[in-house]
Amino acid sequence: MYRLVCVECGESFPPDEILYNCTRCGHLLAVEYDLATLEIDRAAWDRRPLSVWRYREILPVSIPPVSLQEGGTPLYHLTRIGEDIGLPHLYAKHEGMNPTGSFKDRGMTVGVSMAMQLKKTSVACASTGNTSASLAAYAAKAGIPAVVLLPAGKVALGKVAQALMHGAKVISIRGNFDRALEMVHDLCLSHGLYLLNSVNPFRLEGQKTIGLEALDQLGGIPDRMVLPVGNAGNISAVYKGFTELVSLGLMDRIPMMTGIQASGSSPVVRAVHEHLPEVIPERDPETVATAIRIGAPVNAEKALTAIRRTNGTAASVTDQEILAMQRDLARKEGIGVEPASAASVAGVKKLLDMGVIDRDERIVCVVTGHLLKDPETVIRQCDPPLEIDADLPSLLSALQRS
Ligand code: F0G
Repeated sequence: MYRLVCVECGESFPPDEILYNCTRCGHLLAVEYDLATLEIDRAAWDRRPLSVWRYREILPVSIPPVSLQEGGTPLYHLTRIGEDIGLPHLYAKHEGMNPTGSFKDRGMTVGVSMAMQLKKTSVACASTGNTSASLAAYAAKAGIPAVVLLPAGKVALGKVAQALMHGAKVISIRGNFDRALEMVHDLCLSHGLYLLNSVNPFRLEGQKTIGLEALDQLGGIPDRMVLPVGNAGNISAVYKGFTELVSLGLMDRIPMMTGIQASGSSPVVRAVHEHLPEVIPERDPETVATAIRIGAPVNAEKALTAIRRTNGTAASVTDQEILAMQRDLARKEGIGVEPASAASVAGVKKLLDMGVIDRDERIVCVVTGHLLKDPETVIRQCDPPLEIDADLPSLLSALQRS
């Protein structure tokens, strides 16, 4: 059993109330379980396959879930990049290996299952791309309609393709993501669609399993978890999962939660560095990492708590640093990620150079989305294939040239 609890004033609400904010003070809600009475058999978790649903006792879903077999993503040891930059214990959890190619699937399997559990008949979201692709697929699996709002011209091609192909009603607005989120929020409140952005606390329940899986794969607690930050939901989710394991007596310390943003879109970094009580929204965020092109992160208050309580930090990286790390991951490690995902590893390199990270730290970077999400940014960085006549001499001369 669980309740919805306001993270600011502590007001609690029954589990079946459709709410995205506290009705008393307007702050964010979180799902709270009665952990003291929960019997978790750790060995039973270990016997289940690595997946979101391995941890079902601390998830809110009580019906058969709407699932596409999400989670269970690989944890790679970044040996070459680690050697280059001088970090022997650097890992990447490749969330691009989820069914629709991003970590959003963890949130959507829970979120769309909750839509069904709460008897909602349609779902909606605003998105920089991945959330829309994931929602479209899970709504298709559930057999309910989905509406998605995108910032026109600012969503990577692969993500739009997915949302369209999975049959969502896709609408591009002449405005940025922050405006799209306001609009879809209003639409859901006035017309009863179920909002599946990360202000919906159930989404974050699914996403917290990234951290739980990383612990199980590593066989221990990393010193630091590093995540790219856009709307700031994912870093909040992973932190929440850890706090629950601590309450359950299954973990005795929490990694330093570290958030990385693009320098053209970094309100959380500013709030951390300037010790601000809350984030000051940026009006015109801009970055090549369109997934995290967000100026007014709705989960900022949760993310600031996660970073501050764990003695973590935040840093920004330039578009050049992001793209250089995207290439390094692809060419030195064989790991294909989209630009926003490379930000986490680029951020580690930067924090190490700044002397913030210790060389002995065991670090898990979450790389959030697959390379194929944004083929246009990839193609722009690479030389085109050489086109030759179809004979062996031409092939040999081409190989000599390259
Ligand atoms: N990485 C990728 C690939 C993303 O798509 C997102 C968010 C993030 C990181 C940041 O996660 O928002 O929880 O801090 N994408 C959202 C979307 C906003 O609409 O797909 P966050």
